[in-house]
Amino acid sequence: MRNSGKYQEIRKRLEAFGQEQLLDTYPGLSPEEQERLLDDVDGIDLELMARLYEKTAAHSAGGEVKADELAPLEPCVESELSPEERERLRKLGLEAIREGKLAVLTMAGGQGTRLGHNGPKGTFDIGLPSGRSLFELHCDRLREVAELAGAPIPWYIMTSELNHGETVRFFEKNGYFGYPADMIRFFPQTMIPPMTPDGKMRLESPGKVLKSPNGNGGAFVSLKLSGRLDEMKAAGIGYLMVAGVDNCLIKMGDPLFLGALIDGGEDAIAKSYLKRGPGEKAGIFCLRNGRPGVVEYTEIPEECATAADRDGNYIYGDCNLLNYVFRMETLDRLCGAGMPYHIAVKKLKYYDPASGERKEQSGCFKFEMFLFDAFGALDTLKVLRVRREDEFAPVKNGSGEDSVELARSMFTDYMKRSGISRI
Ligand code: UD1
Repeated sequence: MRNSGKYQEIRKRLEAFGQEQLLDTYPGLSPEEQERLLDDVDGIDLELMARLYEKTAAHSAGGEVKADELAPLEPCVESELSPEERERLRKLGLEAIREGKLAVLTMAGGQGTRLGHNGPKGTFDIGLPSGRSLFELHCDRLREVAELAGAPIPWYIMTSELNHGETVRFFEKNGYFGYPADMIRFFPQTMIPPMTPDGKMRLESPGKVLKSPNGNGGAFVSLKLSGRLDEMKAAGIGYLMVAGVDNCLIKMGDPLFLGALIDGGEDAIAKSYLKRGPGEKAGIFCLRNGRPGVVEYTEIPEECATAADRDGNYIYGDCNLLNYVFRMETLDRLCGAGMPYHIAVKKLKYYDPASGERKEQSGCFKFEMFLFDAFGALDTLKVLRVRREDEFAPVKNGSGEDSVELARSMFTDYMKRSGISRI
């Protein structure tokens, strides 16, 4: 057998961790497929996977975040700034963009399973008369800022192994929406295997291990591994604005946002919007053990989610809009630091060697890093609270909360209010 030495070595390692089922299909594969499967398995950090599985027991036993660790974090409220102050910050940001100091990163590596769209989320057409996809909407807004500043803004798009090719082809097919093609740069994020409830990793197909994107926090390590971080530094980028792909009202390259960070001198800045109710499915800004951070809605203690003052204002009321700016020094530090994994209990579909068919199992574990966990390593984080109706209309679900329909109507209202005719 061509790979027998390597096979024996990898099999032994897998056995030590009780994961030898990953090689069940090996004998029936072609030599090329065997080689690929061995490489695939070889790339898995088995010790990390064992540690993560241990964590799943604690996860099932209850929340990891305790109420007494948390304290409110005061935001800067944009609507309370005077028109002069807003203009000053906007100019400060525009000046930095003009000097070529800003790059933007769209995190588009997620699977978008809730939306039920068959393709990368950014390619989703939200049903506007113009037929623009999320990527095109983001591109148009970024182009406006670049034109205003009179300088190009490099746009980085984080994909994953699952959607990289399709994403790149979508941009090619659409002529990069008129944006300079060399200013749009893609890089795939790292993947990590999920586990079934018994702690086993599974196969996606006979010759491939099942893996999923490692969460939006994977952006840091993937920026570094892909060489994109070094590229930014070499180009003299001073600030990276990061945004999710699903918010159709995101202000790409917002000069005021950037200006507020430059002016305040913090390590990073993040946008928030006000919570409408305790069940809002959003991360909440707070101090955790005295450090700035976000606690995800799936992890916030109930008493904190509902806590309100006498006037009914939520004590923990600033929701994470998923839009941040990092100074390059901060980013550089964060890209080299480790991040914790969060556990999500999900349904998995995997290839079952015994039956030769795909099997579905619920109660499985997926592991994700959250970008906002990096805030805990910062000395200072500014939170800028903006108006939800102007800046936050995420397309997450097919219907109901955060639905396409709602996002489309919020987008249309905003454009009308702003006097923009092309919708
Ligand atoms: C996220 C935030 C939440 C915030 C909400 C606002 C996190 C963990 N949660 O929730 O605090 O209130 O947005 O809309 O940040 N992505 C990747 N790779 C991945 C996973 C996700 O690129 O491996 C991207 C997605 O494409 C999306 C973004 O990250 O653009 C957020 O997705 P997701 O992790 O699903 O978080 P949300 O539930 O949307």
